[in-house]
Amino acid sequence: MEQLTVSAPAKLNLALDILRRRPDGYHDLKMVMQTISLCDVVTLKAGTGIGTVEIRMPGSNLPTGPKNIAYQAAQVFFSETGIWNDGVEITVEKRIPAQAGMAGGSADGAAVLRALQIWYGAKLSRGDLEKMGEKVGSDVPFCIRGGTALTEGRGEILTDLPKLPACWIAVCKPAFGLSTPELFGRVRVEKIRSRPDIPAMHAALERRDLAGVAAGFKNVFEEFLTRQERGEILEIQHTMRRYGALGAVMTGSGPTVFGLFDREEQARKAEEVLKLQYSQVFLAHPL
Ligand code: C5P
Repeated sequence: MEQLTVSAPAKLNLALDILRRRPDGYHDLKMVMQTISLCDVVTLKAGTGIGTVEIRMPGSNLPTGPKNIAYQAAQVFFSETGIWNDGVEITVEKRIPAQAGMAGGSADGAAVLRALQIWYGAKLSRGDLEKMGEKVGSDVPFCIRGGTALTEGRGEILTDLPKLPACWIAVCKPAFGLSTPELFGRVRVEKIRSRPDIPAMHAALERRDLAGVAAGFKNVFEEFLTRQERGEILEIQHTMRRYGALGAVMTGSGPTVFGLFDREEQARKAEEVLKLQYSQVFLAHPL
């Protein structure tokens, strides 16, 4: 049996602002998002048994049934396209930490949609696929698009931005996890003290000014962390800056922190030092 393998890149938030809580329980956001080389690997086999969707996640204890976003993506694909499901088996090799603010699940969902589109030769535009992604999760449309983008609304309104110049990114996930709905639940929009200047970040991207982009890093979720969570996040950011990061910030609903470096040796030194204390530390570059 033939198979198809695609990569599922993680995302980082260079800027994250929460504008308002909506009547449907979601929040209107304004974010600058970036895909990076840290990725899961998704392999698709089809023709395994009529109507079935089987998810395998070797070495991971994440659920593989209907709660799994890769499973949901496959279901949405078949129901939206009306394509006959001759049975798919999807293997996800997890490398992106879970509950980390890097859209690990959404990346897998997006990769499944792309893989199914290729496999079945579905005639869908990128916009069609992104719309389908919206049904799977708020970050899925961006994960389909990739690169550097401004995302608004729930996450489904995408505008391409000038791409982030080549750089090194150190990524460090603290041992604790943060649940996205739980953290959104803590947010009081009227209490946000300081917001990212997204037009300034856009201008810095336009100028290919890495230091300017990094100086604008901001994630309003950091204001809603407990004292203990915040202490650990700030310490990681401090370590990254001490070793030469141009900027460091928490991504998404955390708790992962990343730092941006223009020099490889500095990024490697930060990685080495953080690895003394943390088990999930990665070096990546923008895609
Ligand atoms: O869309 P997704 O399933 O990824 O969202 C997970 C949860 O995150 C939602 O149930 C909601 O609590 C929160 N969320 C939000 N506003 C967004 C995106 C997510 O409140 N724009």
